[in-house]
Order: sequence, then C-alpha cells, then structure tokens
Amino acid sequence: MLKCNYGDFMEYKITTNSEEETIELAQNIESEKFPNMIICLQGDLGSGKTVFTKAFAASMGIEDNITSPTFTIIKEYDSDIKLFHMDVYRLNEVKEDIGISEYFNKKGVCIIEWSDLIEDILPKNRLDIKINIIDENTRIFKIIPHGTKYEDLCERVL
Ligand SMILES: Nc1ncnc2c1ncn2[C@@H]1O[C@H](COP(=O)(O)OP(=O)(O)O)[C@@H](O)[C@H]1O
Ligand SMILES: [Mg+2]
Repeated sequence: MLKCNYGDFMEYKITTNSEEETIELAQNIESEKFPNMIICLQGDLGSGKTVFTKAFAASMGIEDNITSPTFTIIKEYDSDIKLFHMDVYRLNEVKEDIGISEYFNKKGVCIIEWSDLIEDILPKNRLDIKINIIDENTRIFKIIPHGTKYEDLCERVL
C-alpha cells in the first residue's frame, strides 16, 4: 500500500493480484461501514467494480445473488443497514427521474458503479475508488477519501 498526500487530498494506492485480494479489500472497508456511506467506483468494464460490491454485500450478511443493476440502475438489499447498489452506466437511457440523490440520505450504504457519470450530483463527502486494469489478474485501486469520516476509515482499515 502506498499512501500519497496531494495537499488537498490523500490517495491510497493498493494493488490486488487476484479476485480474492479484491474481496479482502472490500471486506476491510465493509468492517467500518456506517449509515449514509457513499462508495463511488470508477473503472473500465471488467475492472472489478461488481466483484468489490459482491464482496461488500456478502460481508454485510446479504445472501442474495448480486448482479450489476445495469438496466434497473438501482437494486436494494436488506440487512441491518440497507445496501443500495447502483450502476449508472445506462442512466441517460432512463426516461423517468429515479431520484438517485434521495438514496444518499436513506441511512443505507450506497455503492455506485460508473459514478463518474453522475459526478455533478455526488455528495462532497464520499469514498472514491478508481480501479485500473494492469493485466488479467492485477488491478490497481486508488482510494481517495473525501471528508474526515472517510479519512478516518481509511486510516483504520487500509
Ligand atoms: N485483482 C482482481 N480484482 C477483481 N477482479 C479480478 C481481479 N483479477 C481478475 N479479476 C476478474 O475481473 C472480472 C471483474 O468483473 P466485474 O467485477 O464484473 O467488473 P466490472 O463490474 O468493473 O465491470 C471478474 O471476472 C474477476 O474474476
Ligand atoms: Mg459491474
């Protein structure tokens, strides 16, 4: 893990060399979850956004089969705190207003795949996770906490 201080933000760089290591990373972050937590996932197709989300959900005790909600945009899972899994890739094809920003205050955890597409409506305080594909099994995770709650979380689990 490499920790960089860019002055106005911190960045944690973590390389995972297998799906299992990405699962472990998601479990570590899940261990510090809190109501209204926002996790923003950016990365190309196949980078591991859904792998991360599935592991996070499993760690929350959610037993449902988690699939990318590409066509439904938002899927909701029950747990002691709710999980809202969003995939906003096709959001521009949805005609009705599905009120995404309301989910940020529903006391659950929001995990948003392709969050860069809705950058303008994202809350200021959030955890940004940018995933780069290096080769078949290697991914670089750049984790950027915005706000003290997320900064403290990173200090504890990364
Ligand atoms: N280090 C890694 N971390 C996460 N996934 C990995 C890793 N190495 C290989 N993979 C594979 O990459 C794919 C990621 O798929 P997925 O999570 O659905 O991507 P996305 O949701 O970003 O499109 C899976 O097939 C997974 O097995
Ligand atoms: Mg996906």
